[in-house]
Amino acid sequence: EITKVALAFALLLWQLIGVSGDLHRSQFPPTFLFGTSTSSYQIEGAYLEGNRGLSNWDVFTHFSGKIMDGSNGDVADDHYNRYMEDIELMHSLGVNSYRFSISWSRILPRGRFGEVNLVGIKFYNNLIHALVIKGIQPFVTLNHFDYPQELEDRFGAWLSPQMRQEFGYYAELCFREFGDRVKHWSTFNEPNLMMHFAYTVGGFPPDRCSKPFGNCSSGDSMREPYIAAHNIILSHAIAANIYKTNYQIKQGGLIGIVMAVTWFEPLRDMIQDYLASQRALSFDIAWFLDPLIHGDYPSDMRQILGSRLPMFSPKEKGLLKDSLDFIGVNHYTSLYAMDCTTSQCNMDAFDANALIYKTGERNGIPIGPPTAMPNTYMVPRGMENTVMYIAQRYNNTPMYITENGCAQGSKHGVSTEALLNDEDRVNYLRSYLTSLRTAMRKGADVRGYFVWSLIDNFEWAFGYTLRFGLHHVDFKTQERTPKKSAEWYKEFLNGPVIQS
Ligand code: NOJ
Repeated sequence: EITKVALAFALLLWQLIGVSGDLHRSQFPPTFLFGTSTSSYQIEGAYLEGNRGLSNWDVFTHFSGKIMDGSNGDVADDHYNRYMEDIELMHSLGVNSYRFSISWSRILPRGRFGEVNLVGIKFYNNLIHALVIKGIQPFVTLNHFDYPQELEDRFGAWLSPQMRQEFGYYAELCFREFGDRVKHWSTFNEPNLMMHFAYTVGGFPPDRCSKPFGNCSSGDSMREPYIAAHNIILSHAIAANIYKTNYQIKQGGLIGIVMAVTWFEPLRDMIQDYLASQRALSFDIAWFLDPLIHGDYPSDMRQILGSRLPMFSPKEKGLLKDSLDFIGVNHYTSLYAMDCTTSQCNMDAFDANALIYKTGERNGIPIGPPTAMPNTYMVPRGMENTVMYIAQRYNNTPMYITENGCAQGSKHGVSTEALLNDEDRVNYLRSYLTSLRTAMRKGADVRGYFVWSLIDNFEWAFGYTLRFGLHHVDFKTQERTPKKSAEWYKEFLNGPVIQS
């Protein structure tokens, strides 16, 4: 009898802690944030409404000719006028958090060179208020690639130290206006990826680069990414310092940064490629996170870049150290890394600075099933690897998976029906979440997970040719329709504690 009871008990425990393969909401802590992600320029539209100023992306999309389908974010998802409907979508999914960004040029149309735009402030107040009423916690990004064009025109934006004070001023305005209800602030979204496209290979404004890195009219890919990043890192430190000194105790929130994290595996079974994969992570992630947590750049970057990498003064180091309460991780894919210090590499590929060749294929075989986005594959183990790497390198600083998801291509006349039936996305999300669960069981302090994205939207250089939404958007009518993945997420979030 006793054995029977013990067995039944063990079985129940087994199910409860989810040792079985099935994925359940109850396997994550009750306070865990589950949400969806978006960003201002990608969804808001209304680019001239409510006294908004022009951003760098407005100007770039209108004049560069570099957006794949020639589109722009003038209207996008018209979220500015439809935010209540979009909150309803979230509510029906059952999420408890929503990650979005504030459009700098909507609340400070000309940066510090003009007035605060009260219509813009009101819009975000309305949005935040409506979220809180529905029990959805706002998780806010201050800079998701877009900023007032005037700052670019006047002093070259991130290439100038002047941008640090601009950012501090903007950040403080947000803390003051919204901080009573916002408990999670991210200063920057993917500054590493932004540097890559804005200053190394081109494709994002201000579209600067030099040969052989990319095809731009001016720039210096060997130096500018490091100068701009230096200003961004110090901008984060200034904003975090303002928050921690004047707002954190009163408002009780946290401040962090969000990085784009691709996982790297060695291409060949040799030490050089293993070191290349480690170097790739240094040059991509530790570039920002080491200064913000340990107070300086990683030594392997300094070794290769020498004086191309700016220096922090002792005072700046003090300001930088421990300026993160959490690390936001946007994770989509894994790639192979090959060493280019001892092997001949084709340097038309990424990362001639880090002396690494990155590829998604080994002997013609992709690292995982390709998704619709170039160089992006489904490799679920990458989630566990990424999270464990960050947890180890940064003393288990609390982490949020601020983006995860995959794209569907829609340019070759794919039917709406096929887009709605996104079985691939369901598999992708389920397997990545399962991998995340493994990392958490190994002790990683992860506190939230956000799917990119709530709705199909403007995918930067790809325009509207890639769809990341849990909800399909008909860009002619603005109609939103849940895809199969939305139903899956909803079921996962609301499902019974133990499913069969
Ligand atoms: C990264 C970016 O933060 C977001 O803006 C973009 O749309 C997604 N990942 C998908 O590429």
